[in-house]
Amino acid sequence: MQRHSPRRLAVVREGRVLIYIPDPRGAVTSGRLEPAWLDVFYNPAMEVNRDLSVVTASLLLEEMRGKRDLRVLDAHGGTGIRGIRYVVEAGAEEAIINDIDPYAAALAHANARLNGVTSRVRITVADANALMYRLKREEPTPIALIDIDPYGSPAPFLHAALDLAGHGSIVAVTATDLAVLEGSKPKKAFRRYMVEVYKTPSSREVAVRALLAFIAKTAAIFDKGVEPLMSVYHGHFIRVFVKVQRGASRAEKSLSQLKHAYHCINLGVVVFDEAECNGNKIALGPLWSGPLGDANIALKALSNLSEDLGSYKSLKKLLSHISVEYTFPPSTIYYSIAGISSSLKVSMPSRRLIIEELKSRGYRASETHFSPEGFRADAPPQEVVEIIKELSPSARNR
Ligand SMILES: C[S@@+](CC[C@H](N)C(=O)[O-])C[C@H]1O[C@@H](n2cnc3c(N)ncnc32)[C@H](O)[C@@H]1O
Repeated sequence: MQRHSPRRLAVVREGRVLIYIPDPRGAVTSGRLEPAWLDVFYNPAMEVNRDLSVVTASLLLEEMRGKRDLRVLDAHGGTGIRGIRYVVEAGAEEAIINDIDPYAAALAHANARLNGVTSRVRITVADANALMYRLKREEPTPIALIDIDPYGSPAPFLHAALDLAGHGSIVAVTATDLAVLEGSKPKKAFRRYMVEVYKTPSSREVAVRALLAFIAKTAAIFDKGVEPLMSVYHGHFIRVFVKVQRGASRAEKSLSQLKHAYHCINLGVVVFDEAECNGNKIALGPLWSGPLGDANIALKALSNLSEDLGSYKSLKKLLSHISVEYTFPPSTIYYSIAGISSSLKVSMPSRRLIIEELKSRGYRASETHFSPEGFRADAPPQEVVEIIKELSPSARNR
């Protein structure tokens, strides 16, 4: 662990593991830790991403137990915290923990020792793509879960990950290039993801659906289909878990879920059915129009959630929301109260009132994890817009 000089380390506890991280004292700015300044990347703000991953992986690995090797690949390991948590907390039999940086790998070694799991952890130093192509050639038994957690965009790693994934493998992907996926940088989004996206009132869900579309297209190259088991947008990241299935017909089925969505300018909504716009519209996509996840998995994750997790409260809220959201028709996109109110030029009514009104009219409506000012409903956009117009304080005072 000597790159320049012997490093000072600190120890953090996360989940059921203890992890050495580089001494954070030199990496604090304005009272906050700047993860990129550490010799090895460790971001405490991503604990919620790791907790969610551990809880979800433990469910998915349990379903595979006895049917295949429970081997996981942590392709961008950093301190090794994810791979080690998969072994200690999620029931993985073995974790391959990789990083391109030898110092990160040395720290991951120390962390495997600290947690008594050296015999179940294999540490490699390689470019993640090179490693995945090599594993594909040299180790024919499919890896149960492949975790892609790079800086920024996962796009450069998805070709190798989806090539490596076998029938039934899970690919878990983090994206933090949200400005690109949400459409603030349309040219970059097209270059990276081959998708046309622009900033819209529902851009957070558009971002998730753009990433899923890219995953489905990339899997299809290898005659594989994907089924999203969980997709979330939280803080500054998107995290998706997809199950990969082999077969040209499965690939075709996934591709059949790719559709254009439309930003209806006059209404301030984004919908998959162009006819619902009734006015000026801008096409976005192609996006994944199928389910974002499996409500049963979200419910099970919720009931297995341990209060000892550092992000227990955030995850409880997140999983409660998505377990309801995933039961809506798959191609509904959340409505933004701010977006609709702004296109109507009225002030925003409360979300509670809107949801109550929709339910009283016989529709399903719920909060969405995507935004504190968003909601999901199976009502047509025209009617949602009418309701917002009626309930707006500014309209009622007229
Ligand atoms: C966002 S950090 C990973 C954080 C870690 N998974 C966690 O949960 O704490 C990204 C890591 O990828 C490593 N990395 C960057 N480029 C890479 C590449 N081409 N192949 C493998 N690792 C890479 C970096 O050294 C860094 O440790």
